[in-house]
Amino acid sequence: MSRTITVIPGDGIGPEVTGAVLRILEAADADLEYDRRTAGIGAVASHGNPLPQETIDSIEVNGVALKGPLTTPSGSGFRSINVAIRKHFDLFANVRPVRTMLPGGRYEDIDLVLIRENTEGLYVGVEHFIGMDRDPKAAAESVMITTRYGSERIVRFAFDYAVANGRHKVTLAHKANILKHTQGLFLEVGKRMAERYADRVAFEDRIIDATAMYLVLDPYRFDVLVMENMFGDILSDLMAGLVGGLGFAPAGNIGEGHAVFEAVHGSAPDIAGQGVANPTGLLLSGCMLLDHVGQAEVAARVRRAVSTVIGDGSARTHDMGGTHGTAAFTDAVIGALA
Ligand code: NAI
Ligand code: MG
Repeated sequence: MSRTITVIPGDGIGPEVTGAVLRILEAADADLEYDRRTAGIGAVASHGNPLPQETIDSIEVNGVALKGPLTTPSGSGFRSINVAIRKHFDLFANVRPVRTMLPGGRYEDIDLVLIRENTEGLYVGVEHFIGMDRDPKAAAESVMITTRYGSERIVRFAFDYAVANGRHKVTLAHKANILKHTQGLFLEVGKRMAERYADRVAFEDRIIDATAMYLVLDPYRFDVLVMENMFGDILSDLMAGLVGGLGFAPAGNIGEGHAVFEAVHGSAPDIAGQGVANPTGLLLSGCMLLDHVGQAEVAARVRRAVSTVIGDGSARTHDMGGTHGTAAFTDAVIGALA
């Protein structure tokens, strides 16, 4: 039976890359039905709300969404619509696979997965200024929250992901030498969880700053990496840089009952409406979605096609140093579907 997913085209280049991705998924015979909903700037115009209730309801019912980038309207009450969606559905795991697509970069054959905790850490936003004398901003304070519950579920997720995807090692990156309580708890939970998987997946822990250095010097020593929210935010962009930048980076925000897949890049207002955007990030996010709903063969076929097209240079978009627009690139990927 075909699976219905929520599709949110989003803002800026969102509708262009979403259109391209849906064309490719259709050509690849993905067994999906699309429930199109709106969010972002477009939704402010049509619904007076950047995150309409009907969009939330649709994700609630379908359980799975493919989302284009959203421009968060400045000056509105929303901190970020993306954060609001992650919070609403408790999408605690941010999964970011990083693979070489464009040959000739800094490294060949990179194949890493970063799993970032998505709900705790410094990004809970518990912070304030402290006034002294006549300076209302004499100091500022931010609270890092780490719970055993949150640490256990993200580390377990990382190990389960490794097992399910035939990965051999999980690296837990941390700063427990300095942040002895928050990061110490995260590390303690990780070590204990590792024992349960010891027969199937290797485990190591590594200080976050050294991890950053080794990722640049010798990324091949890593496989699956798991870390708290802000560290994951920073290192996932570093890792995207290893394979040529954000244009190829997909992501899944995964919770117990819901999952939202999106490209890592934003709405790219500077090139919106020009037909030149690279749809690869959202396309690979669509492949993650297909894996998630049990259509892994379709996902593998799409990945092979896009990898062939980018690899042999038969079509490349401007950001890859090519001359093809979104439509021509999309046609080439469809042509390469075996
Ligand atoms: P951005 O990722 O939209 O753009 C950065 C640069 O990369 C720009 O030069 C852009 O043209 C280029 N670029 C991005 N995606 C591309 C693609 N698919 N093909 C070719 N070139 C591409 O980041 P920026 O400019 O900081 O943010 C723009 C808006 O997007 C902001 O409103 C921001 O809040 C939002 N944003 C939304 C995200 C989401 O919905 N998940 C994530 C990041 C940003
Ligand atoms: Mg980030």
